[in-house]
Amino acid sequence: MKIITHQEDLTSLILQYKQEGKRIGLVPTMGALHQGHLSLVQESLFCTDVTIASIFVNPTQFNNKTDLLKYPKPIAEDIHKLEQAGCHVLFHPEVEEMYPAEDTSWDYQVGKLDHILEGEFRPGHYKGVTQIVYKLFKAAIPDLAFFGQKDYQQFLVIKKMVRDFNLPIQLKNCAIVRDDDGLAMSSRNIHLSAEERFAALSLSKALLFIKDNYDFLSLDELKEQANKFFTGSDVLKLEYLRICNPDSLQDLQQKGPAIALIACMVGTTRLIDNMMLA
Ligand code: PAF
Repeated sequence: MKIITHQEDLTSLILQYKQEGKRIGLVPTMGALHQGHLSLVQESLFCTDVTIASIFVNPTQFNNKTDLLKYPKPIAEDIHKLEQAGCHVLFHPEVEEMYPAEDTSWDYQVGKLDHILEGEFRPGHYKGVTQIVYKLFKAAIPDLAFFGQKDYQQFLVIKKMVRDFNLPIQLKNCAIVRDDDGLAMSSRNIHLSAEERFAALSLSKALLFIKDNYDFLSLDELKEQANKFFTGSDVLKLEYLRICNPDSLQDLQQKGPAIALIACMVGTTRLIDNMMLA
């Protein structure tokens, strides 16, 4: 696996591949790789000729400094995992490479999605995400880019950005990978104590409850019952539990295509999860 740290070097390598007629897949990550990320790499290997994974803990998307500081960075293990997975190129730049001192502005208007759910609880988050993903797209010039459904709102935001800038990139939204007990894989799970990890199962249990009962209970009943999974625990603090239209993420007013989304503090760790309902 080639390891590249400068944008220019990445772009010239990719242009060579493109001259050879190869299709490029990009898997953008912030590292601390787990099976969820590796499933994106596998999907890219399946769909394209050259797979690039990027590892960059992007400071502009963290609205909480502590969260940024404690974000895990096991780079040696990550490299090993990517090599084992068969990834062709790792792009692993320093902060100064992606954000030279004079370059801090990014005026893209995310729109409505910036003010609801994750946008409401993490102001500025999507501005940072779109800023870095745009830079990664520019440097890696991928034909396809792969994202996990766990960050469903992020996927919609990036989809909108690709449309707004008319970028010739196909986006793939890939299934959430879960541990055997249902917990969605996340780089943040390593921060959970045994007690917190057990309590964190409430997220997937509540989502599964909603999915299983979607045809039988009203929207209000579904939310009321699902909320009960988060009561009576000292470590859980629910931020939101919503049933939304999967395209707009507006609260659903009547049954139809739907996705349930949850964000919850588990001790000091913030977890999100979601499930398509219909
Ligand atoms: O989903 C993530 O890991 C990040 O938000 C991303 C897309 C790599 C941008 O930093």
